[in-house]
Amino acid sequence: MKREISTTSDGSSTLFVPELDEHYHSVHGAIQESNHVFIDAGYHFFKNSEINVLEIGLGTGLNAWLTAIESTKKSIKTYYTSIEKYPITEEEIQSLNYPDLVTTNGNKDLLLKIHKANWEGFTALTPCFFLRKMKQDFKSIAFKNEFDLIYYDAFAPSAQPNLWTTHMFSLMFKALKENGVLVTYCAKGQVKRNMKSAGFTVEAIPGPPGKREMTRAKK
Ligand SMILES: C[S@@+](CC[C@H](N)C(=O)[O-])C[C@H]1O[C@@H](n2cnc3c(N)ncnc32)[C@H](O)[C@@H]1O
Repeated sequence: MKREISTTSDGSSTLFVPELDEHYHSVHGAIQESNHVFIDAGYHFFKNSEINVLEIGLGTGLNAWLTAIESTKKSIKTYYTSIEKYPITEEEIQSLNYPDLVTTNGNKDLLLKIHKANWEGFTALTPCFFLRKMKQDFKSIAFKNEFDLIYYDAFAPSAQPNLWTTHMFSLMFKALKENGVLVTYCAKGQVKRNMKSAGFTVEAIPGPPGKREMTRAKK
């Protein structure tokens, strides 16, 4: 799949896939969206000292990187599993400007470490952040009662409708522990109905700038 680098309204980079007419993040701000949807509404929803996160779509590594930074700030031991079938290239990694915009010591190295980490098996990237990258199709996920939190960050239902079905959310429901939570930027009515059919209790909460609502679903 061909991809192009572009800049969102908060100045942070994203990738664009012409074939799907899809950006990897909100054009209103990639960092802003990741912080709002995944960090604030997901990661900060938990008060645990240890957490298991599953990410659907590693992509640029932005969600993983912001989570790693938070895990160090708050000393939360974080086991982070991220699924990705089409990893980005070395050139794309180098063109991402996230470390220029969020300044904490060692951040640039951390983004590179995320992309250089081995596929399969957990790698300790910091004393608090353990990353397991899995190069596979979302549809072949078969986890059971493993995760506290899922970042559901697939391309939009208009581009990949088969990733927003009751079947996909049943796989997510199985992957979560009891009381586990799934967060996503998507707030489409049909998607929320599919989540409910899979067993989730679904909540619409305020979305990031440029988007009225997002979704948080609980097992
Ligand atoms: C919206 S982007 C993810 C953005 C990412 N979370 C980030 O922070 O940059 C969706 C991702 O899903 C991946 N993808 C699309 N279809 C997939 C599939 N069937 N299985 C696994 N990965 C897939 C794409 O390559 C892309 O990286």
